[in-house]
Amino acid sequence: MTFNIVVLPGDGIGPEVTDEAVRVLEWFAQHRAIPLHLERRLFGSAAWTAEGSTMPDATWEAILAADALLFGATGSLDQTHIPPEERRKGSLLRIRKGLDVFANLRPVKAQPALAEASPFKARTVAGADLIFVRELTAGVYFGTPRGVETQADGTRRGVNTHSYTEAEIARAARFAFELARTRRGHVTSVDKANVMEAGRLWRDVVSEVHAAGYTDVTLEHMLADNCALQLGRAPTRFDVIVTDNLFGDLLSDCAGAINGSLGMLPSAALSAPDADGRRRALYEPVHGSAPDIAGKGIANPLGAILSAAMLLRWTAKAPAEADRLEKAVEAALASGARTADIAMPGEAVLSTRAMADAVISAL
Ligand code: NAI
Ligand code: MG
Repeated sequence: MTFNIVVLPGDGIGPEVTDEAVRVLEWFAQHRAIPLHLERRLFGSAAWTAEGSTMPDATWEAILAADALLFGATGSLDQTHIPPEERRKGSLLRIRKGLDVFANLRPVKAQPALAEASPFKARTVAGADLIFVRELTAGVYFGTPRGVETQADGTRRGVNTHSYTEAEIARAARFAFELARTRRGHVTSVDKANVMEAGRLWRDVVSEVHAAGYTDVTLEHMLADNCALQLGRAPTRFDVIVTDNLFGDLLSDCAGAINGSLGMLPSAALSAPDADGRRRALYEPVHGSAPDIAGKGIANPLGAILSAAMLLRWTAKAPAEADRLEKAVEAALASGARTADIAMPGEAVLSTRAMADAVISAL
């Protein structure tokens, strides 16, 4: 059997970092006999320019049929030439919803070699090893009604709806508790139960799921604003953090500061397993298209490369190979390999390609 991986490089630095993640996966196919078949497809504004559609039908079919997607980044500064319905058709939100990848895993592990690059004190971040389970297919990014309307007095009003059903909360909670059992057995559930009704339901449902089957895992509830503070103050207190779509988006970027750069963070978005135990999966670095550094060959590819490690773990079911890749990233950093975003003044700076070379030579 072969794992079919559709590669969607996207915009900005997306293609630059994705090329390196693909090179690393090809190393595993060649040297570790991981049966991967990688197929590149245009998507978003690149597809609009080349093919006149942000999501050509053949690409959508390939996405639905794939074992996993390896995604770069989306978002170009100037999309005004693309009609709004085309922008929606080729949006990342549509892919996430279409694949029903509700569980977005975002691990954050303090890299000992980057203690100096962190804006936090080395003794604060040392040993931090946490993972977000961000609910990805509901909440305020998807709720209706939504839109900008003109009111009776001629002024505008913008509307988004923050909505969660019990089922949407429960499946995210179950995922978090199962994951905690494979780690240190502690879940922090983050909400704004004090001011939001959907947040109160979030808290109640997480507690109910816990009581019904996961009392071997410890559960604490935390308000989202306090969580933002604690991620900087005491990141080592966290193991698994389960939270909604919006808070998970913001808080995982906060946690990006632990290693000094968003460019370090990987992610995996997973569906529920089918009858054969296979999950649909979308792997992508947490960062966006970074138009400020695109085209220069200086982006940090480690978020994309660590996303490839998550692909080895969750799709290829090869945890030893995932560990091997994560250790190679650590070794490359320990040997002094730095892209500009994680370099200290005076340190030699590598290109995107040279950083990936350092990882491959550590492999
Ligand atoms: P961003 O994540 O693209 O960049 C934020 C900052 O981090 C920038 O200073 C950038 O240079 C730096 N950075 C990000 N990735 C880096 C890397 N690999 N190496 C070195 N430095 C890196 O977020 P921003 O600037 O807010 O958004 C830019 C565009 O990306 C927007 O169009 C936004 O909608 C889109 N976006 C897309 C996402 C996705 O594809 N999943 C996620 C977040 C934003
Ligand atoms: Mg984000």
